Amino acid sequence: MTASERWWRDAVVYQVYPRSFSDGSGDGEGDLAGVRARLPYLADLGVDAIWLNPFYPSPQADGGYDVIDYRDVDPRFGTLADVDALIADAAALGIRIIVDVVPNHCSVEHPWFKAALAAGPGSPERERFLFRDGGPDGAPPNNWQSMFGGPAWTQVPDGQWYLHLWDSSQPDFNWRDPEVPALFEDVLRFWLDRGVAGIRVDVALGLFKAEGLPDLGEGMPTVGPGVPYVAQPETLETFASWRKLLDSYPPDVFPGARAAVLEAWFDDRDFMAPYMAHGQLHQVFNLGMLGTPWSAADLRKAVDLALDVCGDSETRAPWVLENHDFPRLVTRLGIDQELVRNPTIEVMQGKVDVDLALGRRRARAAALLLLGLPGSAYLYQGQELGLNEHLDIPADRRQDPLFTVSGGMIIGRDGCRVPLPWSGDAAPYGFTEGAGTWLPQPADWAALTVEAQAADEGSTLALYKTAIRIRRATEGLGDGALEWRDAGPDVLSFVRDGVLAVTVNLGDAPVELPAGEHVLTSGPLDGGLLPRDTAAWTRLP
Ligand code: NOJ
Repeated sequence: MTASERWWRDAVVYQVYPRSFSDGSGDGEGDLAGVRARLPYLADLGVDAIWLNPFYPSPQADGGYDVIDYRDVDPRFGTLADVDALIADAAALGIRIIVDVVPNHCSVEHPWFKAALAAGPGSPERERFLFRDGGPDGAPPNNWQSMFGGPAWTQVPDGQWYLHLWDSSQPDFNWRDPEVPALFEDVLRFWLDRGVAGIRVDVALGLFKAEGLPDLGEGMPTVGPGVPYVAQPETLETFASWRKLLDSYPPDVFPGARAAVLEAWFDDRDFMAPYMAHGQLHQVFNLGMLGTPWSAADLRKAVDLALDVCGDSETRAPWVLENHDFPRLVTRLGIDQELVRNPTIEVMQGKVDVDLALGRRRARAAALLLLGLPGSAYLYQGQELGLNEHLDIPADRRQDPLFTVSGGMIIGRDGCRVPLPWSGDAAPYGFTEGAGTWLPQPADWAALTVEAQAADEGSTLALYKTAIRIRRATEGLGDGALEWRDAGPDVLSFVRDGVLAVTVNLGDAPVELPAGEHVLTSGPLDGGLLPRDTAAWTRLP
């Protein structure tokens, strides 16, 4: 395969959360027309692909990860014709589209689940899900807990229970019922036929559960090796068949493969190796940096782990600093870093001091780290604007099941899902022509709008744009080798293919940079030295 055929190995992928990207219809919620209208912005930013979070019909109990119909568009987001137009317009600008596939669970409103409830115990309709009788004394069938808290089982009026590893409105499919894999093969074909270049697979390691649904052993972690609902061997067979399906699609508008990225956590080489083997799907997200504090030693460990896990396999784990499930980078880097290492309940409640100026400065440095690492990079919408987490959303406006299921104990993920600020001095900052936005925006985002930053050469938006442009033009960035340089314990420094050095100063004192042309820095140099919380790209002589 040529480099452009393996586009997924070094693509810059921009994650669009459709409900919060841009509103084309004026109802206060983002939609596909809004994404389409803003494509020139994304082309100008220089991204290679867009990953769209779910836009399928859904009651939105979990941000659209509760799907009613995998082969349609929720009217709030538009129509199938809008998807087709978006794919075509994006292609004309050289941008690929990646869609989210949610195969572990659906919505309680999905016709299959409604049929299962109506058909009763023992029916083929119930076989598509994991219905079981309860334990003695009215206990659920086993001790599994939902990722959002509380038992992973809900009882229905006839006495049986159904499994939901996430919200009670998201019943898990039974992947051992042949109808389920058959459905998802159709779903993949449906979107591939429409011209999507890739898929992101939600909860990828969760599909199969161990036969007999055994209890989780005492003291066991709730994710990872040995957990009865994680990474059962059949998952590999499914993904190998998906790989064949993807490979059977000829390059369409673009050269190269239709690719898949798995949403899975990894911190164990042996555990993940089978998923990165030849014949498996293309990539596994590398989400480790989302919880890594701003420390040279910790970040180096996270980078080494990711490189080690991928080894010399075909896969390259995409680097991720933000997504729709984690507090914004600026806020994470603006708090006491011990709280990133060991989050307290106060952090989960958003009751924490944030130094936004410090967070922004570090987040700018982190941008040059992200785009300097070997492999593809995912950017979450608004990351390029240096948006902070919105911590002050009133309780009655919060939507995330993490908030509701925890009885308000945990604020959850709404703060990173706030509608983007495009222009103007006050909410809704050009996001909508309508009166309000589905989640409220902070009152102090005027300086962070796209409009304000586009006019400012020193803005975070300008930094991302320049970095992506240089990355594209520089042999050695993107896919390829990394060699660490020793620049002291508080400095991350590595050279890409002998051509470009990436240096990030995480210590207090300014440090020397390697000799060469400093083609991009995240902040001003200090008499030729790299100040704290600053990064530089240096073209070596
Ligand atoms: C991971 C998604 O990123 C998250 O938003 C969702 O809540 C869970 N999977 C369940 O689908």
